Amino acid sequence: MTAPNARTEIPLNLHEYEAAARAILPPMVRDYIAGGAGDEATVRANRAAFDQWRLLPRMLRGLQDVTTATTVLGTPVSLPVLIAPSGLHRLAHEDGELATARGARDAGTIYTMSTAATVPMEAVAREAGRWWFQLYVFSDRGVTRELVERATAAGASALAVTVDVPVLGRREADERNRFATPPGIVMANLLRPEHQQMPMGPGGSGLATYVNSLWDPALTWDDLDWLASLSPLPVVPKGILHPGDAVRSFEHGASAVIVSNHGGRQLDSAVASLDALPAVVDAVAGRGEVLLDGGIRRGTDILKALGLGARAVLIGRPAYWGLAVGGDAGVRHLLDLLRGELARDLMLCGLASPEEATRELMAPVGPL
Ligand code: GLV
Repeated sequence: MTAPNARTEIPLNLHEYEAAARAILPPMVRDYIAGGAGDEATVRANRAAFDQWRLLPRMLRGLQDVTTATTVLGTPVSLPVLIAPSGLHRLAHEDGELATARGARDAGTIYTMSTAATVPMEAVAREAGRWWFQLYVFSDRGVTRELVERATAAGASALAVTVDVPVLGRREADERNRFATPPGIVMANLLRPEHQQMPMGPGGSGLATYVNSLWDPALTWDDLDWLASLSPLPVVPKGILHPGDAVRSFEHGASAVIVSNHGGRQLDSAVASLDALPAVVDAVAGRGEVLLDGGIRRGTDILKALGLGARAVLIGRPAYWGLAVGGDAGVRHLLDLLRGELARDLMLCGLASPEEATRELMAPVGPL
């Protein structure tokens, strides 16, 4: 792409995208994107977990070339990296989710649209390639059902149901900043005005007030059955960490699970998502695909997740950085960078495709 922003050089990697985005974003938005819950131990753990593994490459395999392409739930993608759901994209760029969806489309991967998007799903769907809808379950089941039905009608190809928000994690930066959407930026997927805007209360995070009053805190496995019955879309619970919950997801109609701790934004001190992955993959034992988000910044991070059994990974904060820096071109360029890194890393490991990354590739830090 051309220079993403007159004030920045073109970033060479995701870390440089983060720095460029931080320089552009207003502090309240920067803190909202970066922030985790409590002491942010899980935010740090998500990254640190990747450093506990090394790769054990194989030589003399005669590879002329590699492919980064694979499939997720049968959908071809140009790399095993999807856009994770995150809300409120118009805080980072005026085109909001339209730009994120275009960027993912142009990069050849799946965009996951958040319930908390700031552009209506029907408008985003017109610009998107393949997209999934992420669902937050409202206590008002009529609202929930309507979201699922609209997403199905608009062409979503899966329903990612977030299951790790019985209450919003306490993000202290948002409390301090009294985080709320400014006038003119609304949660446009909701039809009722009282569901579109976060309350600007006397103190604390408007997001926390919104979530804790409107979203259902008491979901059960029966609700997953109910959600699966609402549409023909594959259901993908997001926020699974325990192997038993992963197995149970498949018993209740899931087609895949996303191993995630919500980027460290929910339970502080929750296990790092990469650390949770191997036991989940073992327990699932091929019943369905296992995806992972949390801490992916490099092609080698993708390889480590694949080596531990993930079918693909999702990126949340990095998508926001690409969006902030360059709109749709920024999102696409950031995904292109990851694809380039992954292709080189596959070649260096002697692997022809993402499917060839197995546990044989993985070595814990220290002598073999
Ligand atoms: C919402 O789910 C958030 O993580 O901000």
